[in-house]
Amino acid sequence: MTPTHWMHNIHIMTMDPNQSGALGVINQGVIVWADGQLIYVGSADGAPSTNPEDNVIDGQGAWVSPGLVDCHTHLIWGGNRAGEFEALLEGASYAEIAKQGGGIMSTVTATRALSEQQLFDAALPRLHRLMETGVTTVEIKSGYGLDDVSERAMLRVMTRLQAATGIQVMRTCLAAHALPPEYKGRQDDYVAWIADHLLPSVAAEGLADAVDVFCEEIAFTAAQAETLWRAAQRLGLQVKGHVGQLSVSGGADVLAQLGGLSADHVEYLTDQQVTALSQAGVAAVLLPGAFYFLRETQMPPIDSFRRLQVPMAIATDMNPGSSPLGSLLTAANMACVLWRMTPAEAWLGITRHAAMALGLGNRKGQLQQGYDADFVLWQVENPVQVIHELGIHRPHRIWLAGKLLLPNPLIAH
Ligand code: NIG
Ligand code: FE
Repeated sequence: MTPTHWMHNIHIMTMDPNQSGALGVINQGVIVWADGQLIYVGSADGAPSTNPEDNVIDGQGAWVSPGLVDCHTHLIWGGNRAGEFEALLEGASYAEIAKQGGGIMSTVTATRALSEQQLFDAALPRLHRLMETGVTTVEIKSGYGLDDVSERAMLRVMTRLQAATGIQVMRTCLAAHALPPEYKGRQDDYVAWIADHLLPSVAAEGLADAVDVFCEEIAFTAAQAETLWRAAQRLGLQVKGHVGQLSVSGGADVLAQLGGLSADHVEYLTDQQVTALSQAGVAAVLLPGAFYFLRETQMPPIDSFRRLQVPMAIATDMNPGSSPLGSLLTAANMACVLWRMTPAEAWLGITRHAAMALGLGNRKGQLQQGYDADFVLWQVENPVQVIHELGIHRPHRIWLAGKLLLPNPLIAH
């Protein structure tokens, strides 16, 4: 029989909406798990009795949260964009840099130059950085290959990252990130190639879980996104999009119509679009890192999301250009400081709401019976400290699928 594990003397942020308060806190609680799944999360009174062979852990009054969920990253890439950072600071805009062949396209060139193994080696330490801040589930997008060989290599690296770390990796095909030079002046042909060739073979090989499109004046139109999302849905893949990063696009409306998982980068969104997303149950994924690095001034419509109860997730958007950010806790802090989200909203944004944005709301992002045993121990007096005190707190312990992750291998990379 596999052992049953017990942890007591803890304060639990369950994030379970059926528990009390915004974060569903249980003071002096008990967590019981076996085989990577939670068997009991609740007060000490109602807990099942222990057996002599059980592994019992004293949490010493620490706080426990679900494992964090980073629901939007682009963490596989080649090269770096240090020069672009300098240009941005001198006043060039992200769109101008992109139009001159910099930005995403410069990373495509550098990514295509790397082998699958080199891409894996580059990405693994980045994933370790996220794990050090408590991330146990991550979404990763392709989109720096833009051809058959390199898009597939990126997708395969995602599966290998999951195998190497044990964390849950959700794989998104973002072939519609930029127009590759081979298709200059033939944007519809590129979209058709993705819909008719790339996606069917990727789906047949089980290489992806979802399809994203960069819906933007400098990228793809809402009509092209619709073609791609419909193709994805026919193949049984989920759909999501970058739909309001630099300007309002029709992408959010299409996502609402199609019942997408999430609308991401939503600074530029109309009130009607927020209503449509709310009615369709689409989550909003907020990416304060990109807002910060691009010195954006258009705020996402946080009040409208609140009023219409659109779940607000927060993610790092980790990528080499618009958001070279390796800490989900920093992203959570930025969402509070830059946009006045509350610390409770930020906690939900990196747990329950982020899991919902990945379609994993019934397994991840909360601590309750039947959920995966992914959780983090924080040695703080008040959980707001984890969000407030920037760069100061690291997980004291992390359990992933019920197993204690030793901190040493993480720090070695
Ligand atoms: O999420 N907006 C498009 N995609 C990325 C940017 C990637 C890049 O600049 O390399 C983003 O911001
Ligand atoms: Fe992004």
